[in-house]
Amino acid sequence: MIKLAHAFPALNPNQAFHQELLKKFKATVDREDIGFYRHSSDRAIATTAKTTARRFAHKKRLVHVGIGGSSLGPEMLLSALGVSADKRVQFINNIDTDMLVRQQREWDVNETFFYIVSKSGNTAETLAALAIILNCLEKNKVTALQWKEYIVVCTDPKNGDLRKFARDHQLSCLDVPPSIGGRFSVLTDVGLFTATWAGISVDQLLHGAEAMKANLLEPQADKNLLTQMTFWLEEQRKAGRTLTVLMPYSSLLKEFTAWWVQLWAESLGKDGKGLTPVMSYGATDQHSQMQLFMQGPADKTMLLLGIENSEHTLALKNSLKYPHLEALAPFSLSELMKAEHVGTLKALEEEGRPLLDLRIQQFNADTLGQLILFFESLTVAVGITLGVDPFNQPGVEAGKKYAHDWLGQHAH
Ligand code: PA5
Repeated sequence: MIKLAHAFPALNPNQAFHQELLKKFKATVDREDIGFYRHSSDRAIATTAKTTARRFAHKKRLVHVGIGGSSLGPEMLLSALGVSADKRVQFINNIDTDMLVRQQREWDVNETFFYIVSKSGNTAETLAALAIILNCLEKNKVTALQWKEYIVVCTDPKNGDLRKFARDHQLSCLDVPPSIGGRFSVLTDVGLFTATWAGISVDQLLHGAEAMKANLLEPQADKNLLTQMTFWLEEQRKAGRTLTVLMPYSSLLKEFTAWWVQLWAESLGKDGKGLTPVMSYGATDQHSQMQLFMQGPADKTMLLLGIENSEHTLALKNSLKYPHLEALAPFSLSELMKAEHVGTLKALEEEGRPLLDLRIQQFNADTLGQLILFFESLTVAVGITLGVDPFNQPGVEAGKKYAHDWLGQHAH
């Protein structure tokens, strides 16, 4: 389970805040139109993803197409948990022509298939990639009747162009539940299909998320990390600390921070309110952003995250007689990581920088599932506290509409 190893300033369980937040949090996640929390309780949710993935098990490369919540979650799962040695996964998550041409060079069409993900089914970036993929299939003499052997779709169960496209061409089509928005959708078929095809245990991921729930709903204020952290972040926000730095001491969790950036930014940034997410990871960023975190503007809170036991051990033993190398010799690489983590924490505290130090015992699909549900729930709890709706994104929608208007005006 996720544990708090250290807090500066200390967490200060506030009974009234805890009770009020927990009541509102429960009411929110029980809402019929909010599905992210309930979803992992359904043991059968990964069935379609697994069955469909088995049908494409003979392929060597999956190209996952999506943008925002339709890509960041799956990218995070694969970068954290890895891909089977015999498989390759590529992500098309932008509309960069030269990048896409570079990616296309790696496609051997007969060994490749495409997973097209869009909750709305109408997103221009994703449909543009689909058009390019269809052109590529045509060039390789794949007819529309054969598309079902090359394309799987994941979208709204009823609406949108992508659903119609899948229906018209009898493609396998997985669902993004209408009650789960893009940035909360990683544990739906959006992420589960790509993950299971890549060899990740989606059952463990879902088990972890499910196991987290007892902690999130812990009735005692001083034992509930969710409500205590939310209170702490709110106190810091009131003191002008509106930037949140998430800094796991792990390369495996680097993309986790990218996923969390979208979750935090798009859920909380509205009505003139919000907390600005900053992506970071240790120890690497100690040699990049840490100077700013230590002595720059005092507008940040730091969320450090450490893994107590790494899966493997790499000894630093050496017989070289140079002082800096000799100093490393008795230790393992994980111990060096621990030293850097603890050292940074101490230095931040000496500089008066607010921080929370979270820990997990080991890193695997189960603990990643816990982290996902914890950070999704924390986002919702902070949204409730800020008084914003964490589930909409009116600003993004407006941008999408204006882009469409521009296309309409410039058609040629
Ligand atoms: O979190 C969100 O809702 C957004 O970031 C969407 O995921 C993103 O805009 C892509 O939308 P869609 O999945 O409809 O293509």
